[in-house]
Amino acid sequence: MTQNRNRSIPTPFPEQPFKAFAATCAERVEQCLERLLPSSSVLPKRLHEAMRYATLNGGKRVRPLLVYATGIAAGGNMEMLDRPACAVELIHGYSLVHDDLPAMDDDDLRRGRPTCHRAFDEATAILVGDALQSLAFELLSDAGFTIDPDRRIEMVRILANASGSRGMAGGQALDIDAVGQTLTLPELENMHIHKTGALIRASVRLGALCAGTEGDRQQALDHYAKALGLAFQVQDDILDVTAETEVLGKTRGKDLAANKPTYTSLLGLNGAREKAKELLDEALGALSGFGDEADQLRNLARYVVERNH
Ligand code: IPE
Ligand code: IPE
Ligand code: MG
Ligand code: MG
Ligand code: MG
Repeated sequence: MTQNRNRSIPTPFPEQPFKAFAATCAERVEQCLERLLPSSSVLPKRLHEAMRYATLNGGKRVRPLLVYATGIAAGGNMEMLDRPACAVELIHGYSLVHDDLPAMDDDDLRRGRPTCHRAFDEATAILVGDALQSLAFELLSDAGFTIDPDRRIEMVRILANASGSRGMAGGQALDIDAVGQTLTLPELENMHIHKTGALIRASVRLGALCAGTEGDRQQALDHYAKALGLAFQVQDDILDVTAETEVLGKTRGKDLAANKPTYTSLLGLNGAREKAKELLDEALGALSGFGDEADQLRNLARYVVERNH
């Protein structure tokens, strides 16, 4: 039981200005996660505390926002979108905890606070990632998620595929292999599409599937998500160069220091900005068959390339 259990769950509505819509979605997913994560008073307390530390009170919540905005654009309701929104954020949280470990990017700062292995210890951080990942799949598969079982299984498949060796984890392997290398643009793009794009694409797929979208509309959303996922990591590479650590909430300049190939190292800052702009246009173009029901998805795409953290 948690102290937030009795707070009413905020409900975003499509006509809200983007900032308010995004804040309402973020607050909604925060409350849902708060309820779904085990309490830190339950054994093993330290692991549960660390899972909550890594997941609550932080992050832009872009992936849940995508689930909600897609689901709304496709005519779904908020309640059915909560579990996929939480599941994808849990996988993302796990990926960040492992990404920060000494064996990977060796980072001390995340979301303006010490990274999980710094605040706790490495073994706990490894287990946090493992347990957040398992919880994500539990949320989608358990009977508390009251949508058609066939669709539930399809969601598990989509998220598993996006998280594994042909998705995020595979992209992270490519990232590690690339240290000190000069990649070609297609190789860099392939790495980014996997390490970051896969989960972003899955977020849109889950939202669309929840709402029962099929055919051309589903394909258009997928095209949007593919461009957006890549744009997201291009902007992440740009911010590693341009943002202040205090605003970014993670240490600036780590990619250069670690000798990682990035869009900025390959194309220069202006080239990377140009690429982000092209991808934004592609994402917006993919939504051309949609009306104002997709406005929050359009706003979100603009936000992804204009954000400063
Ligand atoms: C950072 O993701 C890692 C990448 C995949 C680029 P976010 O920028 O979404 O991180 P949070 O969740 O807002 O902290
Ligand atoms: C992380 O990419 C991608 C995943 C966590 C899967 P980065 O290593 O660029 O993310 P940041 O910059 O540490 O957030
Ligand atoms: Mg990394
Ligand atoms: Mg990193
Ligand atoms: Mg980065």
